[in-house]
Amino acid sequence: MHKDIGKILITEKELDEVTARIAAEIDRDYADGKKLVLVCILKGSLMFMSDLMKKITVPLEIDCMRVSSYGCGTTSSGAINIILDLIRPDLAECDLLIIEDIIDSGSTLSYLTRYLVNKGARSVRTCTLLDKPSRRKVQFVPDYVGIEIPDEFVVGYGLDYAENYRALPYVGVLKPEIYSE
Ligand code: IMP
Ligand code: MG
Repeated sequence: MHKDIGKILITEKELDEVTARIAAEIDRDYADGKKLVLVCILKGSLMFMSDLMKKITVPLEIDCMRVSSYGCGTTSSGAINIILDLIRPDLAECDLLIIEDIIDSGSTLSYLTRYLVNKGARSVRTCTLLDKPSRRKVQFVPDYVGIEIPDEFVVGYGLDYAENYRALPYVGVLKPEIYSE
């Protein structure tokens, strides 16, 4: 285990099981007549999406967006900025599935869903690996959820603290002394 990690919250085996379960749900829901486009929200969802897409068997395309809502600490700034937009001429025929690493306040996904619906996508649904329902500031219910977790700041499997720890293969909780603030 990495020296800065106090405990592992979700093991590699559990992540493998969770991604397989979500992939099966997506396979069931996008079986016919859909043009499924997975939209990876960079950078946190990179590892989750790459594992998930290997397990989905229905045809799919991929795309990426990048937004900023956090500074480099552990608290949200609230405002959402689109840094990399989704530009597709065929958007009106696309069934978008936004792939997110974690929902905290709910602002990122509720903003993005509204944004992509208004932009003209045929359908927009959301999938998150982790959910902290106790932290909601904006009412938002994702369509696919991996695991609900308590109010702890987690890193690994794509998730960062000040851009570090994204490459860890598990989701862990940082030791309190790592938070310098
Ligand atoms: P929301 O807009 O407050 O729901 O925040 C969602 C974003 O905050 C995620 O995409 C993450 O980038 C970041 N975030 C929220 N909680 C955590 C955490 O525990 N670890 C790492 N990033 C987090
Ligand atoms: Mg982040």
